[in-house]
Amino acid sequence: MSDKLLPVKLVAPVVKDGATLKGAIMKRRTSREFSPQPLTLKDLSELLWAAYGINRKATRGRTVPSACGVYPLDLYVFTLDGVYLYEAEEHKLNPVVKGDLRALAGGQEFVASAPLSIAIFADRSRMTSDDPAMEASLKAHADRIAALDAGAVTENAYLYAASANINIVERMWVDDVKLREALGLSDDNLFQVALTLGYPPEK
Ligand SMILES: Cc1cc2nc3c(=O)[nH]c(=O)nc-3n(C[C@H](O)[C@H](O)[C@H](O)COP(=O)(O)O)c2cc1C
Repeated sequence: MSDKLLPVKLVAPVVKDGATLKGAIMKRRTSREFSPQPLTLKDLSELLWAAYGINRKATRGRTVPSACGVYPLDLYVFTLDGVYLYEAEEHKLNPVVKGDLRALAGGQEFVASAPLSIAIFADRSRMTSDDPAMEASLKAHADRIAALDAGAVTENAYLYAASANINIVERMWVDDVKLREALGLSDDNLFQVALTLGYPPEK
């Protein structure tokens, strides 16, 4: 095994399978119980694509809206192997820190052993525009914009999870100061919310 954490090339989504939108909305719910089994590459790839991926090649438009189209969010992906940053443009995971840091992704006991957590930060330094009206709005409402953008991401993740039979919980209960320190993030990075996911435990 390499002593370095390597990038993970994600696979393109299969858009024709899974539940219908209404079926997924009907199934959407929070669960805090997880099998330790890691998500398949297909499920991990499609989850990240649904949450924050590119759905229009020509404009690089994404699966979620973003105020003024600035997309200030970063999705940090915590696995047994290490922490990665989701790179939507290339649909891949870039290494951030090697090692099992899952316990840092949340205060609740299940977080350390669940196979996957995602911590969502907004990078305030990217919340900027050449358009003076947009710039003023981004500066005046930065916190609200970041939280609303993150809400769209988490809802897409919940709906994808419902459609793929994956358990999921959205969590605010995180020591964001410790987390920022472990990831080497500056004060410009504002923690929004985290997700924990995994397949249902075997009964
Ligand atoms: C912004 C937000 C923060 C949340 N924080 C936590 C949390 O820290 N820990 C947790 O176990 N659940 C958390 N939840 C999940 C809620 O408890 C859950 O959505 C709620 O009980 C409704 O259940 P449902 O999602 O199954 O409909 C959070 C949900 C939201 C929207």
